[in-house]
Amino acid sequence: MQENISAPKSEKPEKKKIIFSGIQPTGVMTLGNYLGAVRNWGPLQEEYNCAYSIVNMHAITVRQNPKELRENTIKAYALLLACGIDPKKSIAFIQSHVKTHAELAWVLNCYTQFGELSRMTQFKDKSAKHADNINAGLFTYPSLMAADILLYNTDLVPVGIDQKQHIELARNIAERFNGLYSNTFKVPEPYIPKLGAKIMSLSDPTKKMSKSDENPNSFVAILDSEDTIIKKFKRAVTDSEAEVVYREGKDGINNLMSIYSSVTGKSFEEIEHEFDGRGYGDFKLAVGTAVAEHLRPVREEFARLMDDKAYLEQCYKDGAEKALAISQRMLDKVYKKLGFVL
Ligand code: TYM
Repeated sequence: MQENISAPKSEKPEKKKIIFSGIQPTGVMTLGNYLGAVRNWGPLQEEYNCAYSIVNMHAITVRQNPKELRENTIKAYALLLACGIDPKKSIAFIQSHVKTHAELAWVLNCYTQFGELSRMTQFKDKSAKHADNINAGLFTYPSLMAADILLYNTDLVPVGIDQKQHIELARNIAERFNGLYSNTFKVPEPYIPKLGAKIMSLSDPTKKMSKSDENPNSFVAILDSEDTIIKKFKRAVTDSEAEVVYREGKDGINNLMSIYSSVTGKSFEEIEHEFDGRGYGDFKLAVGTAVAEHLRPVREEFARLMDDKAYLEQCYKDGAEKALAISQRMLDKVYKKLGFVL
């Protein structure tokens, strides 16, 4: 993706592996999105060639207000940079700016089976939730996601656990295409963090934390104020015991411990020790305070970037240009193999 220009000519430069991931600009970015995915994207830039996208084309599979979608896309892009994605190190772009995504998605639709798409749990969940708008885009959403990934010769896709099934489908599509037309796509692997891969709702810890939850106390938004974050954690549903230990059946406490561990770096053992003999009130306050503190620099950087729209525009235009150059090569290769006249 980016040339390794510093290696001496005589030695073959070791090729960096390629990372691709994306996030939808719907509503607000939650602590789940952050801990499960986005916070890991920045550190990966040092070791890998990374491309990250604000996937606004995926977002319209559910009805969106145009003005809000436009604003949320810019905000999501600014938030991506505020979370540590450096547009000089990585390719950071808005999906609809790079036409190859829709083009390859159409091709992949013709190599994806109805039965495969019917088995996707996200499709089942979303069609139950939006029963009045079960559109074809919602159904073929995973083919567009496969296109996003396969266009860049991606090795690894850093995501939360809920996206694993979509990546497995992308692998199947890639293998099927390769089988029919000889080796074309690299077969990607999901890259799921050990901690934070599934952050649960604060009001119902048996459910995934989700920005589309009707109860705003169920999720923490990255841009929530310090007070709001602390308040939400104080209200978090736990259990009737008073023991901060990680144990099966203690969903609420397990979730809070995972969050606390993710933002402080403390092990579960250390956390159990720290709160030994102390009540849940103390623990919840500590988690809320640690999260609010951890997110402070992100909030501050976000505010600074939103004041510099010209810079943001320059970054996403530049990102789109780089993404198009790479992905067009892959699309041409695919078109050639299919027998399209070039
Ligand atoms: P999206 O926008 O729903 O979520 C973005 C990322 O956040 C992760 N995530 C979570 N992780 C832990 N706990 C949670 N409660 C939680 N909620 C969300 C998601 O796993 C995801 O990594 N289809 C994707 C976007 C996409 C994409 C791609 C991802 C489109 N094309 C190509 C990777 C590669 C989605 O809807 O993510």
